[in-house]
Amino acid sequence: MTQVNPPAAPADIEAAVGRTIADLGAAFSGVLVNVGRRLGLYEALARIGACTSEELAQATGVRERYVREWLNNQAAGGYVHYEPTGGRYTLPAAQALVLAIEDSPVYMAPAFEVAASFWLDEEHIIETFRSGRGFGWHEHNERLFCGTEMFFRTGYRAHLVTDWLPALGGVVERLRAGAQVADVGCGHGASTIIMARAFPASQFIGFDYHADSIATAAQRAREAGIDNVRFEVATAKDFGGGTFDLVCFMDCLHDLGDPLGALAHARAVLKPDGRVMLVEPYAGNAVEENLNPVGRLFYAASAMACTPHSLSQEVGLGLGAQAGEARLRGLARQAGFSDLRRATRTPVNLVLEVLP
Ligand SMILES: C[S@@+](CC[C@H](N)C(=O)[O-])C[C@H]1O[C@@H](n2cnc3c(N)ncnc32)[C@H](O)[C@@H]1O
Repeated sequence: MTQVNPPAAPADIEAAVGRTIADLGAAFSGVLVNVGRRLGLYEALARIGACTSEELAQATGVRERYVREWLNNQAAGGYVHYEPTGGRYTLPAAQALVLAIEDSPVYMAPAFEVAASFWLDEEHIIETFRSGRGFGWHEHNERLFCGTEMFFRTGYRAHLVTDWLPALGGVVERLRAGAQVADVGCGHGASTIIMARAFPASQFIGFDYHADSIATAAQRAREAGIDNVRFEVATAKDFGGGTFDLVCFMDCLHDLGDPLGALAHARAVLKPDGRVMLVEPYAGNAVEENLNPVGRLFYAASAMACTPHSLSQEVGLGLGAQAGEARLRGLARQAGFSDLRRATRTPVNLVLEVLP
């Protein structure tokens, strides 16, 4: 065996193996969260309560032998509780909010779609690590687009209208009265549609460079029957449509090749006393502040999607998903804004207000 120097202590080896087994268990089981979500297993467990594998199989029309294996995996992971006496499985209420109930404020199951897309793009990302070239958002497996939409929508539904917009100076009053809003890098338009529904007197335009995402966003708005919103293919540096009371960058500024150019363009199209809202992944200003489970998640997303995308575009700044407030403030000032302040936060989001 190759010797390591200095030699590792047996207890440290045990801890390293234990940590890796836990992570392997999560990596192997992530796909089973997708399987459970797509087959309606979580939803049925939440609906029917304590049940045997036969009862769950019957309720979902899925083969019992597979359901039993799935349930035991879920029980071993602590997602499901197993009662040996009656052979019954229960999805605890808190776990149902995270995995089964789509409109709960903590619904996270679709994030595993994003994980699936990362595995599918592994070869491309290895190549970008070697070459230093970028890899654009549009080049990813399409599971990234719907996964991102569904995952981020949870936070937008829970916080955007009730907490984030009210935390910005005077914005809600303007939206109630009738304002023009640009949602830049809107993807499938989850945030745009939520805001448009809440503020019918205002007009919303979602912009994204990715034509397929814009087509999906327009379809979502049609399905929702909302007519004070429209979607256009445009980049963050050239979108038009008039002047705006509010320009939003919802979890996308750090993805851009040229976030400074995008902020400067936002400033040029803002009305006097208009506001820019940045929603960014939660992060501290130094690496050591981000060495925790949330930081781990975002550094992974950053390495697999955000940084390669930024490096694929003009300027290629490569901010990374955890740029932190201080770096973003520096960019806002460079773009000609007077300041940037933290409006509010969640465990996973920073909400920043850029001041004219
Ligand atoms: C992480 S996704 C966020 C999507 C959406 N805001 C949401 O919250 O669901 C980043 C988005 O930025 C878009 N994007 C990337 N570069 C862009 C650019 N230069 N101009 C406009 N949109 C861009 C991508 O197509 C993608 O939809």
